[in-house]
Order: sequence, then C-alpha cells, then structure tokens
Amino acid sequence: MENKKTVLLGISGGISAYKSVYVASGLKKLGYDVRVVMTENAAKFVSPLTFETMSCGKVVTDVFDPRNDTPTEHIELSHAADLILIAPATANTIAKLAHGIADNMLTTTVLAATCPKLISPAMNTDMFENPATQDNLNILRDYGFDIIEPAYGMLACGVEGKGKMPEPDVLISYVEQWISKPKDMSGLRVLVTAGPTEEAVDPVRYITNHSSGKMGYALARMAARRGAEVTLVSGRTALPREPFVETVDVLSAEDMFNAVTGRAPEMDIIIKAAAVADFTPANPSSEKIKKADLMATLADTSQAPHKGLEPERDSSSAGGSRDMSIKLAPTRDILKYLGEHRRSGQFLCGFAMETRDLMENATAKLANKNVDMICANSLRTKGAGFAGDTNVVTIITKDGVKELPLMSKLDAADAILDEIMLAKK
Ligand code: CTP
Repeated sequence: MENKKTVLLGISGGISAYKSVYVASGLKKLGYDVRVVMTENAAKFVSPLTFETMSCGKVVTDVFDPRNDTPTEHIELSHAADLILIAPATANTIAKLAHGIADNMLTTTVLAATCPKLISPAMNTDMFENPATQDNLNILRDYGFDIIEPAYGMLACGVEGKGKMPEPDVLISYVEQWISKPKDMSGLRVLVTAGPTEEAVDPVRYITNHSSGKMGYALARMAARRGAEVTLVSGRTALPREPFVETVDVLSAEDMFNAVTGRAPEMDIIIKAAAVADFTPANPSSEKIKKADLMATLADTSQAPHKGLEPERDSSSAGGSRDMSIKLAPTRDILKYLGEHRRSGQFLCGFAMETRDLMENATAKLANKNVDMICANSLRTKGAGFAGDTNVVTIITKDGVKELPLMSKLDAADAILDEIMLAKK
C-alpha cells in the first residue's frame, strides 16, 4: 500500500529512542515516506544507520554537515513533511521548541515547519511534572502542537510513574488520526458496540461467547479517523483502548442496554457490532455456588453432574434430577429497541453472524429490527469470524446487497462506513 504522505520523525536523546525504530518501521509498513531527524544525543542511543537501513533516507543530525543534500536541508525537510512527530521529546527539546530556539537540526527544522506537529514527551516523572516543563508544553499547545500524554509504567530510572513514551502502535494511531483520512464524518456522533457480553451465573462463573471485539473496535477507530465523535460501548475484550474514542466498559447485556439506550438519543449513527447474549441466567447466585451443595441435590442418583451447574432440579425428570440445568431468561434486544425508538434521521446498523442461511437470516433482521443496514458474515466462510484480523462482510440495505471481498477488519470497517455515508445521503 502506498500512502505517499511524508512523516518527519524527530528523535531527541532519551532511552525511548529505541522505540522510535518500531514507530518508523510501522509507518513504513503503512506506506508512509518516513524521514528522520535526530539530535546528537539521540544518535548516542540509536544509530542513524538503523533508520537509514530501514529506507528512511539519509538521517540528518547536523545543520552544517557538508554531506547534507542542500545547505538549507532543514527547509527542504520541513516543507516535505505532511506531519512531524517528535518521539521521544526530551524536556530540553520541549523547552527549546517552546521558546523558538533553533540550535540543532531537529529544532531548526521544526521551527521552519507549518504542518501539524505532534510531541511525545518521555522523561522521568519529576522532570515531566516540573512546572517549567508543564509551562513549556502549554506554550506548545497554544502554538498548535498536539501533545501525546506519556504513559505510566516503570521508567528507566527505576521509578514507577508517568513519563514513558507510549507504545509505537499508539504513536502510529496519532499519525493516522491526523493525516490518513479525509474528515468526511466530522460533526457526526457515532456509537459503536463491540465485544461479547458476560452473563453471571454466580460471582465466579459466567456465560459468554467468542466475540473478540475486533470488528467493533475497527469501526470505532475508522469513524474517529474520519472525524466522527465516537463512543464505543464495549464488553470485556483483550484489546487496548482506542486513542480517539470515548470507551464505556460494560459486562452484561443489561449493562449494554442501559449504556446504549441512555446515549442513543444524541447519536447520528449507531452500529451494533457487539455479540449480545440473547439469554441470561434467570436467578444468578450472589454467592459462589458450591459443588457440595449441588451434589446434595443429586443425592438420589449416582451420576455425576454435567458442567455449568445451577442448583435447580429438572422437575420434568421423574424420581429426582440426573442432570443440572441453568434456567435462562431472555435479555432485551437492544437493536430492536433502538429500531422502535429511533429519532428521525438516525442511522441504525446491525450485524448478523450466522452459521447457516446467511442471507435469509440477515435480511429478516433488517425488517424485524427496523434498521437501515445489516452487515452479515458467516462463521463458515474462510477468513470471516470472531478472532481473526480479516472479515468477509455482506452489506444488506433495503436498496440492495453488496458483497465485500475478504479484507482486513480495518478495511472492512472503512468500507462499511463508506456505505453508511452513501445510504445516509
Ligand atoms: N442484538 C442486540 N441485543 C440483543 C441481541 C442482539 O442488540 N439482545 C443485536 C446485535 O448486536 C446485532 C444484531 O442484534 O447487531 C443481531 O444479533 P444476532 O445475535 O445475530 O441476532 P439475534 O436477533 O440475537 O437472533 P439469532 O440469535 O437468532 O440469530
């Protein structure tokens, strides 16, 4: 994939400079033209040769280096950049940038640049919290720099606190957020649901499903990249937080119902990618259910109980129960509720994950739930489904059917948003 946008990666002298190698590599893989400017101190932590070998061009560290392509290399570099990311940014570099000091290749290039500028401060917690650093960061904010909050964790000095450079994926997300997409969804409020729900049997056990949340998170990310204000209502997943998305954590179908319906009236678009449980234990126990108690209820039989037990007898079984069962009650169908209560102009998109009769089942959901779009996928299709990074989606609206080919969940999310934007017109 050729992105053709140029990202200038500025690296100053901190230990997290090693992570910038992964930032450069990740950006290259996404198709960006990556150019690197390092301070002399940065070059003590990581060799410029590392970046040059990764095809980031000649790494420039010295304004007066006779090997520079032109005597005004800082101007060429700053004009070529669509975005500058300074990661890591030391307290010293931040102070210089805040006060217009141009005493090395990095600070000189940034001073000459008019493109968006992102700063990822990385330093010891006390240095970061020092009022001088905070004042300098505020000056840069006023100048239009976007400051990426440092992460918490174990710092190189052995202290735990705020000051770590975020992981490369997070920094790459910032770059993508700033320059990768036209902002055709700006002004729109979008709610996405993602992940599984967990239905408690007791405080220890629950019933859930295989949803990874990846499709919903991809939709949230791409909608944010396209400029939408995004709320993600998410069941428990292993996925990291999406940086430009407000995430609301829920566990059960009931939690999700409350979180979604409470916010729905303000939303322009609601996309329900979550795998919501259709049933929940009717009488969840507030205490852990003990095996001995269960076994006592089976005292009149020698057969061991099955897994997933609740101390309820199967009354249909004459002469005492031989199996245990969990009594289930239906949950509320959130999407159906939204379809019944939507305000005019609000767009509703549901998902249908099927194992058979994909089109019939998905089309029925479009009508039954009174929604504008159903994104159908079959668990039987290779490359589609829960845990993977790809999907094969068929988009069904009242106007027709569009089959998307096998693609990454991020590309599928983008294609779904394209269809939503078309259908909304
Ligand atoms: N859904 C929902 N609330 C529920 C169940 C489902 O909002 N209690 C939504 C899902 O998020 C999805 C759509 O309804 O967008 C279809 O979900 P799915 O489980 O495929 O369909 P069901 O209506 O539950 O029907 P079935 O389980 O028979 O396929």
